[in-house]
Amino acid sequence: MQNTGRFISFEGIDGSGKSTQARLLAAALREAGHEVVLTREPGGSAGAEEIRRLVLEGDPDRWSAETEILLFTAARRDHLEKTIRPALARGAVVITDRFADSTRMYQGISRGDLAETVDKLHALMIGVEPDLTFLVDLPAEIGLSRAQTRAGTEMRFEDMGLDLQARMRTGFLALAAREPRFRVIDGTRPQAQVAADITAIALAHLT
Ligand code: ADP
Ligand code: TYD
Repeated sequence: MQNTGRFISFEGIDGSGKSTQARLLAAALREAGHEVVLTREPGGSAGAEEIRRLVLEGDPDRWSAETEILLFTAARRDHLEKTIRPALARGAVVITDRFADSTRMYQGISRGDLAETVDKLHALMIGVEPDLTFLVDLPAEIGLSRAQTRAGTEMRFEDMGLDLQARMRTGFLALAAREPRFRVIDGTRPQAQVAADITAIALAHLT
């Protein structure tokens, strides 16, 4: 892949503050003179946004874990082709709210051990990782209560409950410990403090 830009992802459990922090980082980097493409998963391209509705709305047991892996990966492939690769090729900073680590956690460990299936499909169809990943970390109780405050129709995963969110948190921390591209950020602090840490790390990474 032609990759002259930088690829930054935000990961964490539902309600951890990823979207807020992705937005604040995009603003800070634009202020510093970078071209920034702020995007999200599932979604980030027209086709992937259509798939988003299929996976995030409706009954928690609407799809099997295997079907979900295919749907999230299909959405990611479209996002990569239509949004991420073109932006990186022209030298932009791409900031995405979730990427493949979310599939590793949500589909890979939530309902049985499907980690190997996720990794194989990723290698076959996606094959890229972010340069830098912020894990916004906080206890599952806090994440879930924040997520439920802004409750809407996209609640399939929040509806799977606290126990699942707690397992996701543990899984994300284990993944972060294995992968050098991760920075673990304490998301329990006020927004501005969290943002100041993230901006400093990102600016250092970009110079
Ligand atoms: P995520 O994208 O991880 O689900 P959001 O950024 O949407 O999280 O934040 C979830 C909710 O918590 C929103 O209502 C947001 O305003 C609030 N929130 C975000 N960051 C903080 C913070 N540091 N402290 C308190 N509330 C926060
Ligand atoms: P998101 O809109 O980021 O939700 P939140 O703001 O609550 O964190 O993501 C929606 C849901 O999709 C979230 O519960 C996690 C789930 N998800 C997966 O299960 N697998 C994936 O690969 C991705 C990208 C998201």
